[in-house]
Amino acid sequence: MPGRIPQDFINDLIDRSDIVEVISSRIQIKKAGREYKACCPFHGEKTASFTVSPEKGFYHCFGCGAHGTVVGFLMEHDRLEFVEAIEELAALNGVDVPREEGKAPGTPTTPLFDLLEKAANLYCEQLRDNPAAIEYLKSRGLDGNTTNHFRIGFAPAGWDFLLKRFGSDEAGRDRLLKTGLVLRNEEGRVYDRFRDRIMFPIRDSRGRTVGFGGRVMDNTEPKYLNSPETPVFHKGRELYGLFEARRANRNLDRLLVVEGYMDVVALARHGITTAVATLGTATTPDHLQRLFRASNEIVFCFDGDRAGSEAAWRALQVTLPELREGRQVRFLFLADGQDPDSMVNEIGPEAFLRLVEDSQPLSDYLLEHLKAETDLASIDGQARLAELARPLVNRIPEGVYRELLLERLAAEVGLSAERLARLLSDPGAAPAERPQTRIRASQRVSYGRPGPVRQAITLALHQPATASVIRVPEGFDELDQPGLQLLRDLLATAEDNPDIKPARLAEQLSEHPDGGSHLTKLLTQELPLDEESDWAAQLQDTLDSILHDDLERRFAELTDKANHGLTDAEKAEFRELQAQIAGPRSKAS
Ligand code: GTP
Ligand code: MN
Repeated sequence: MPGRIPQDFINDLIDRSDIVEVISSRIQIKKAGREYKACCPFHGEKTASFTVSPEKGFYHCFGCGAHGTVVGFLMEHDRLEFVEAIEELAALNGVDVPREEGKAPGTPTTPLFDLLEKAANLYCEQLRDNPAAIEYLKSRGLDGNTTNHFRIGFAPAGWDFLLKRFGSDEAGRDRLLKTGLVLRNEEGRVYDRFRDRIMFPIRDSRGRTVGFGGRVMDNTEPKYLNSPETPVFHKGRELYGLFEARRANRNLDRLLVVEGYMDVVALARHGITTAVATLGTATTPDHLQRLFRASNEIVFCFDGDRAGSEAAWRALQVTLPELREGRQVRFLFLADGQDPDSMVNEIGPEAFLRLVEDSQPLSDYLLEHLKAETDLASIDGQARLAELARPLVNRIPEGVYRELLLERLAAEVGLSAERLARLLSDPGAAPAERPQTRIRASQRVSYGRPGPVRQAITLALHQPATASVIRVPEGFDELDQPGLQLLRDLLATAEDNPDIKPARLAEQLSEHPDGGSHLTKLLTQELPLDEESDWAAQLQDTLDSILHDDLERRFAELTDKANHGLTDAEKAEFRELQAQIAGPRSKAS
């Protein structure tokens, strides 16, 4: 397996790449002031709301909200995974991608990947030695090829199978705990999580094992155990079987999204190697983005029961923002009590694929669902349908897809498209409301109210040079609030690299545990200031007020506590705070 690509290399590569050159070689863009404009390649549109800022090293579409760095653009536009995008970018710049040697230090996740890999191998070995487990897999219709393709294994009974092998010292136990392969109980004893279970390794896009699902072979509960969230495993992002599907197919014309491990594996056993499963969670926006990066056509296969139809409706809602011309989404509802595993075993792959071919297009499903909830014979019913459709239609990026859906909706309810459009536009809303809806909604979810910490982060991100000008107020480093560690690390990184581009700064800290993943979104925000503003002074004021607010909060806490009696240490702090709050807002260090 190739080693990691050094972060420094990635940073330099993004830095030296000309985002305008990369994008203009793929779509037509026009210069407009300091930025460039284009019709967004990610949603159909006639007016140019897609902008590229060479200064920020960043693109952003005001129509559909798509945004990112040059790497993100390549991933979205060329449908590449991260590593592939880096390789493409390196090729454009005529450089080779270096890899760190095997277990090179530098990243704390490498040992976790190694450990998970070793565990997967051991589980495979164990399967070979366990006739009952092999028998179980056979009884489920699996053969050796499929089992090998998915590296299905077996975790033997007992509390210390992995513990004995990898947990002989503190460091080993610590690594095991971090991967979620062992647990610690309340008395502090550690033990294997997966015992006497069929093991399905979950692999990331590069084929590295990041977690496991484990199934019992009888009726004990819980039927499945999954790895917990760990530094290398995020359930809301991974898709079981995607690595295997990409490996088995040069081009993924279509992906089937099913509910269970066994569904993916059983379909593959019958030659249908394009199924992936979410890991017992609802479909997330992250999933959708990964799915569409891999293929233009997605068919959700859900059970015919209530839970299945609820899951389908949720999946539809998450899919809407990703819809655009050229992408197809369909829904296959199986009979109650069936899942793809039982179905394909019963009717065979050809008949199953016919069901897939005949599955319901998203637009049909959406209309059918809405119609079922309204009485279209009445005027009220038409208004109600428009009411129900509005939030859904508004989630679809503006463009051909949305227009077509609106036309169909109009035809279905027997209204002219204009009248429907009137019903759909909220009479109370400002005219600019519609195109903005998605962007604003996502901002609300992802970074909450703009407090001073976020203001400071935004400022430092957009104006990295200010970091070396301002002075961090005394006591600031000891504060503990959400986002503050990110801010401090942002300031430190910017201070070391005053010429760093905002996009690269965001990229570098994107995995920061204190909210680093929100940084690229903050890039899309304009600073709430005009050109002539003194950014450094503004940042300084914000830092000072964060400290001051914190002192006041602490003071209020102690005042409150004073009624219940303070310890001597607290009394001293109380006096100290009184003096500080009364004094200047910050002290020079
Ligand atoms: P089989 O019973 O082996 O056919 O499993 P399945 O893949 O058909 O699973 P099922 O439809 O019951 O559940 C779908 C998915 O939900 C599974 O693949 C798991 O990811 C998850 N799941 C099911 N049961 C449990 C459980 O008891 N605990 C957890 N954590 N996840 C479960
Ligand atoms: Mn099943």
